[in-house]
Amino acid sequence: MDLGLDFGTTRTVVAQADRGNYPVLSFPDEHEDAHDHVPTVVADDGGGLVFGFDALAAARRGAPLLRSVKRSLADPGVTAESTVWVGERELPLLDVLTGFFAHLREAVDGALDRSSGDDAPRTVVGVPARAHSAQRFLTLEAVRRGGFDVVGMVNEPSAGSLEFAHRQSRSVTSRRDHVLVYDLGGGTFDASLLRLDGTRHEVVESYGVERLGGDDFDALLARLALERAGTTRAALGTAGWADLLDEARRAKEGLTPQTRRVGLEVADGDGGTRLVTVDVADFYDAATPLVERSADAMAPLVALLPAATDGEELPGVAGVYVVGGATSLPLVPRVLRARFGRRVHRSPLPSASTAIGLAIAADPDRPFSLRDRLSRGFGVFREREAGGQVSFDPILDRGLLTPDPVAPGDASERLTVTRRYRAAHSVGWFRFVEYAGLDAAGQPRGDLAPAGEVLFPFDPALQGEGVALRDAPVVRREHGPLVEERYTVDPAGVVSVEVVDLDTGYRTVQEVGAGVR
Ligand SMILES: Nc1ncnc2c1ncn2[C@@H]1O[C@H](COP(=O)(O)OP(=O)(O)OP(=O)(O)O)[C@@H](O)[C@H]1O
Ligand SMILES: [Mg+2]
Repeated sequence: MDLGLDFGTTRTVVAQADRGNYPVLSFPDEHEDAHDHVPTVVADDGGGLVFGFDALAAARRGAPLLRSVKRSLADPGVTAESTVWVGERELPLLDVLTGFFAHLREAVDGALDRSSGDDAPRTVVGVPARAHSAQRFLTLEAVRRGGFDVVGMVNEPSAGSLEFAHRQSRSVTSRRDHVLVYDLGGGTFDASLLRLDGTRHEVVESYGVERLGGDDFDALLARLALERAGTTRAALGTAGWADLLDEARRAKEGLTPQTRRVGLEVADGDGGTRLVTVDVADFYDAATPLVERSADAMAPLVALLPAATDGEELPGVAGVYVVGGATSLPLVPRVLRARFGRRVHRSPLPSASTAIGLAIAADPDRPFSLRDRLSRGFGVFREREAGGQVSFDPILDRGLLTPDPVAPGDASERLTVTRRYRAAHSVGWFRFVEYAGLDAAGQPRGDLAPAGEVLFPFDPALQGEGVALRDAPVVRREHGPLVEERYTVDPAGVVSVEVVDLDTGYRTVQEVGAGVR
């Protein structure tokens, strides 16, 4: 049993690898209507937490609902101790996520007609390309705790390229060997440029915009409906606005290229509703700048393409592969075709493309290999000069090529970096960070995420159990021990660090970024 699990901001989709086919699992709602996803939502039903379609049903009965829980994971300060609010209750994020994946495991067993006692299914999980270590680690941990055997983690847009190659391998030639993946989901936009060399997929570069997705279209349509109804968001109140957003999403998802006008129910303030009509042309006018923004965001990737010989557009590109549920809005492929021409291909199943690509990655017989890159740099601040000065060491550069994310457990495939030096202090204080880039002075800049810290006793007198290193004075010492720091990136992109005193053999190992072991 090999599965691809796409944990989306709004929808979670699961596909199965089945003898070279990758069917998408379908899940029943409370009316037993089948859907190709489980809504990524949690509600507090009074008695406890409920998830997916049960949560939506509970919310209709008035239970508080938490949407977009995946966004909490992207918070740069997220740890295993982070909490989220479901209505009035503050709960550990990891528990809420674990509950969601346990619910999903049950739903998967139901969809596949397995019994829940069966072995945990082998699963490859997707993660946003720019995810930091803590985000990767907590996702992995929650999926595992929920009852899946996670064998790998693949960046979402890279999964899109596997699906493209599976469907359209003939459009890839030696002259056109690049694929641009354009992924517009519910809440995020991701793009990746990949080079396909035979069966080998190599990520050239990824890029993303947090908070750009289908949710923004819903908000635009809801605002137009408010205008037509002659009312305001403040007049609707929080719950009324949430209802209107739901209504807008429903209306948006029903649009076809032929639709001219769309009707929405807006609360009228007297407990009733009023039907208003919005011209689709007005909605598209309002939404076009958003789509243009996503296309603009691909510019840094387009700039990396080989030089054009005959002025052709997108030289070397076999296809701009358009995936993500939000690209079902007819406006999106229209704007992209106007910009990028006829090489724009929409996935036949844009909402499921990532899950299908992940199932391909999980398939032990897949004909493709995949090499991704670190989308963030990883470095350490070390204390110098008896605690008075701090120096930064960028250990793993952004853009380093990583091993196949579903490597069969071969440790030699892992990316490892070591540092060896004579320690000059009694205690080493390492503060790890993940960074988006370095400035000219070699210091990390912009978008910095703390990735944990390690205190290490260089003084053998402090290398015992229960020594409070935090309170020990940091002093300079002559003839300190030879120390080795060993950094390893596992196939999921999680960095771990081992610090060893090579003289005494004392060592510390830590998976940085999450504080869970
Ligand atoms: N037929 C449709 N027409 C227009 N939009 C649609 C349609 N079907 C789904 N969507 C939109 O797609 C979005 C969800 O896309 P998708 O499932 O790819 O996102 P996700 O994976 O949950 O989120 P992310 O990738 O951002 O984490 C929602 O905004 C939804 O309204
Ligand atoms: Mg997605």
